[in-house]
Amino acid sequence: MNNLIVKNASQVVTCSGFAGKRGKEMSDLQVIENGTVVVTGGVISHVLKEGESIPINPSHYKVISAEGKALLPGFVDPHTHFVFGGYREEEFAWRMRGDSYMDIMNRGGGIVNTTRATRAASEDELFAVGKQRLDAMMQLGITTVEGKSGYGLDKETELKQLRVMRRLNEEHPVDIVSTFMGAHATPAEWKDREDEFIDFNINEVMPVVKQEKLAECADIFCEKNVFTTGQSRRYLTAARKHGFKLKIHADEIVSFGGAELAAELGCLSADHLLQASDEGIRAMAQEGVVATLLPLTAFSLREEFARARTMIQNNCMVALATDFNPGSSFSASVPLLFALACIYMKMSPEEAVTAFTINSAAAVGRADKIGSIDVGKQGDLVLLKFPSYKFLPYHVGMNIVDTVIKNGKEYSEE
Ligand code: NIG
Ligand code: FE
Repeated sequence: MNNLIVKNASQVVTCSGFAGKRGKEMSDLQVIENGTVVVTGGVISHVLKEGESIPINPSHYKVISAEGKALLPGFVDPHTHFVFGGYREEEFAWRMRGDSYMDIMNRGGGIVNTTRATRAASEDELFAVGKQRLDAMMQLGITTVEGKSGYGLDKETELKQLRVMRRLNEEHPVDIVSTFMGAHATPAEWKDREDEFIDFNINEVMPVVKQEKLAECADIFCEKNVFTTGQSRRYLTAARKHGFKLKIHADEIVSFGGAELAAELGCLSADHLLQASDEGIRAMAQEGVVATLLPLTAFSLREEFARARTMIQNNCMVALATDFNPGSSFSASVPLLFALACIYMKMSPEEAVTAFTINSAAAVGRADKIGSIDVGKQGDLVLLKFPSYKFLPYHVGMNIVDTVIKNGKEYSEE
């Protein structure tokens, strides 16, 4: 039935809106004190102020008393690589000893290391680990997650990863937005033939992904010693012709013109951006490209954090994501994400909440359906154990999620 009333929440943090928010707009969460939210048939049907009531028959609804608890939109994680085989704990230890992420990648570790394990894994094995990871994310309040292929780097395995995500989307309550990332790295069999590998992706893999409706977005790792801006332009332009929404891993390790390219192509989002130039930031704001920042990655790689303040001052739409993956950020820790965003990237709690709800919904092209508590949106909600959203960064590293509601159905912490 999926009819539910969340009654008298100390705060209903609506994040109200149907599009991503820019600059100063990110500070306004449109909070209703002591509010009530009604979900009917899985969809938000009423958002009520204190004392407001409506003529519904409560016997048709499950009622949750939310006194002393803040209610938010379900979190949207707009950048992850959560379907993969194997782990890379040795590489983490090497990095702690001083090796860089790129050194390890250039000597045959990194993404291609995970590619070996992902090629070797069966579809059922990937499904099983994917499911466990989604369960963990959901306990942290994530109700929609973007997931990328890119650990196949051959046709068969890229399709396998995407099919696993399709099955997970059908069978798991968390919604999945799938992204084709055939150009994540160049595998050994294409070494020094990057241009041909891009052609292979464009001509052999992309059309099948499109035909089988296996992904909504396409993404590429635009970075020194990975794929050039020229190769990225070619790949993304072809993806656009196929009707994919465009994403790009941009300016992560060096300033490389990725943000500028994202603006030129009108990408939905540009992600990482640790080294994005002033020019690139202005261009993204101008063209409405969502700047998706990944503080858990900067933290795990011991890199400087992205310049969130400069981006917000320049009127960008800033989103946050975990980047959950086996290499640069083996974490989907929402609590740590909020803490790093506020403590190190100097975002306000309000900006961070906007960035992980309505703006992250915009980063996956779904701001009209999720990411806020507005009538007509999916009944995806998170109830906190504390009375204010301000506890999210403040209770550093602690999971303060009390109840997750997905399409009006309640999932309580055991
Ligand atoms: O977003 N930078 C490229 N891709 C991923 C890391 C993937 C990996 O190391 O396995 C990222 O950080
Ligand atoms: Fe990534």
